[in-house]
Amino acid sequence: MAKVLITSGPTREYLDPVRYLSNASSGRMGKALAEAFLTAGHEVGVISGPVEITYPRGCRVQYVTTTEEMLAAAIELFAECDGVIGAAAPCDFRPAIVANDKIAKTGEGLCLRLVETPDILAALAADKRGRWVVGFALETRDGPARALRKMQRKQCDLIILNHPAAIRSDETEITAFTPDGGTLGTFIGSKKDAAHRIYCWVEEKLLR
Ligand code: C5P
Repeated sequence: MAKVLITSGPTREYLDPVRYLSNASSGRMGKALAEAFLTAGHEVGVISGPVEITYPRGCRVQYVTTTEEMLAAAIELFAECDGVIGAAAPCDFRPAIVANDKIAKTGEGLCLRLVETPDILAALAADKRGRWVVGFALETRDGPARALRKMQRKQCDLIILNHPAAIRSDETEITAFTPDGGTLGTFIGSKKDAAHRIYCWVEEKLLR
């Protein structure tokens, strides 16, 4: 039995007490992955941004809001895990300054300065010491080439390429790439079945 950490859902980066930057990630892929690994008898911990879905009974879920909170929670939980699957869509940027009060209109528009947030998977992989790291890549063009570069940059042991059409959908198309540039195959269908396929790839290549 392995202990698996799954990051899931979006994060939010507030610019004032009521407004935030985020994306439309629903957490459905993370939920399906949690179900697949639980069904196979593994222990699952989920770190999730704000989502409307409910994660399966039997996994430990910790909710966070920002990318930095997700990173801190992930570092803590990864310490007791055998591997991580980064199914989350964390915000890559946050406002450099968060206003204490609601920003009011001035008639002159608003310029936001954004700074980069930390990369959670890359940070976990930098200290993986024998543990495995699986990433996702959601690309609007040059999918395979970008996914391969992302896998190298983030030191993933497997990367799952999917498409923007998968966001908030119950269906997805996935292709798994290995660090040698090879592929383990492509799957098109429900996220539930895609998660089972990802589980099988992880079982075959990474679980010992
Ligand atoms: O956003 P990007 O395409 O780079 O995401 C690729 C992978 O990296 C995904 O698995 C995602 O969960 C992860 N990621 C992360 N921390 C970020 C951005 C992305 O762990 N700040």
